[in-house]
Amino acid sequence: MTARSFAVEALRRSFDRLPEGVRDDVRRSSATVRGLTQVKRNQAALALRLADLERAHRELDPEPLDERFGPGVLSRTCTQDQVESKWFRTWCEALGEEPEAHRKLWEWAYLVRTLDALDVLGPGRRGLGFGVGRESMVAFIAGRGVEVVATDLAPDAAEARLWTNADQHASGVLDDLARPELCDPEAFAERVTWRPVDMREVPDDLTGFDFCWSACAFEHLGTIDAGLDFVTASLRTLRPGGIAVHTTELNLDSDEDTIESGPTVLYRRRDIRALAARLEAEGHEVATLHLEAGTGAMDAYVDVPPYVAEPHIRLLYRNHVTTSVALVVRAGSR
Ligand SMILES: C[S@@+](CC[C@H](N)C(=O)[O-])C[C@H]1O[C@@H](n2cnc3c(N)ncnc32)[C@H](O)[C@@H]1O
Repeated sequence: MTARSFAVEALRRSFDRLPEGVRDDVRRSSATVRGLTQVKRNQAALALRLADLERAHRELDPEPLDERFGPGVLSRTCTQDQVESKWFRTWCEALGEEPEAHRKLWEWAYLVRTLDALDVLGPGRRGLGFGVGRESMVAFIAGRGVEVVATDLAPDAAEARLWTNADQHASGVLDDLARPELCDPEAFAERVTWRPVDMREVPDDLTGFDFCWSACAFEHLGTIDAGLDFVTASLRTLRPGGIAVHTTELNLDSDEDTIESGPTVLYRRRDIRALAARLEAEGHEVATLHLEAGTGAMDAYVDVPPYVAEPHIRLLYRNHVTTSVALVVRAGSR
């Protein structure tokens, strides 16, 4: 008997011992929860259907062009327009992922597409990934001929346990990151190294990289400031002109009230604007901020736990509506 079936059996026996009236209450509550879950699925299905209908009639929301970085490269939010773009499908497929209207997938696709557009993916280049978990991006980037240093918390760090349980932490075994369909195993072994790095203390010997990245990681450093300090420190790992792309959580409903500390913090638009100003003042170039929430049907659907596969562009995290935002920075010469 597995631990799970043992627990289920124990629960069933406890349930059978309850008075009949209490058992009826439990049955009614569980029917209500099942009903609410179905209501949520119905709404998700409606949002997808509405988005299909909109596609024929809706004009794309206008977005700026930052000539320093080129078409499509902005520091920006995930929106319906983004996950409906042709490039999104192309880059999901390149990463071996099924294209779905999911913000996490968008973060990965936007990251590699941006690095490609800025011409840093290719033989002879060096890339540094922070908090990589089990990202397929590591193998994809190595498959493009890049020498990669993939980093994450040491597996025995107290905080790493949270992510090991969630299956999002690379245990240090490179096998966890290898994807033979994205990078030939021999080339992977030659090009990829893994080392433990705490993003709160980026080591001084990590320097001269052509690019660095992190996905969905710097909001987990304990405070708003710790994440902002990490982004600044990550630029010291780059050669002049090197590219940093980092994604995080953006609070869409308040520029005041947010989660400022704890296992996950939520950045406000004003935090991102202040960070961009600070980086520009230090001589770096930050791709134009485009922090719009989007106006499509899928942008209006706010996913709540337990989350659906799609649309999952906006979600309710505690009492805040959030989405993903990517920050793109070119390192200045110091
Ligand atoms: C939500 S997971 C994202 C994993 C991966 N980047 C992805 O997109 O699937 C957060 C990651 O941040 C890492 N992380 C959390 N705190 C960290 C820290 N102080 N230093 C380095 N990595 C950290 C976790 O170990 C985990 O791999």
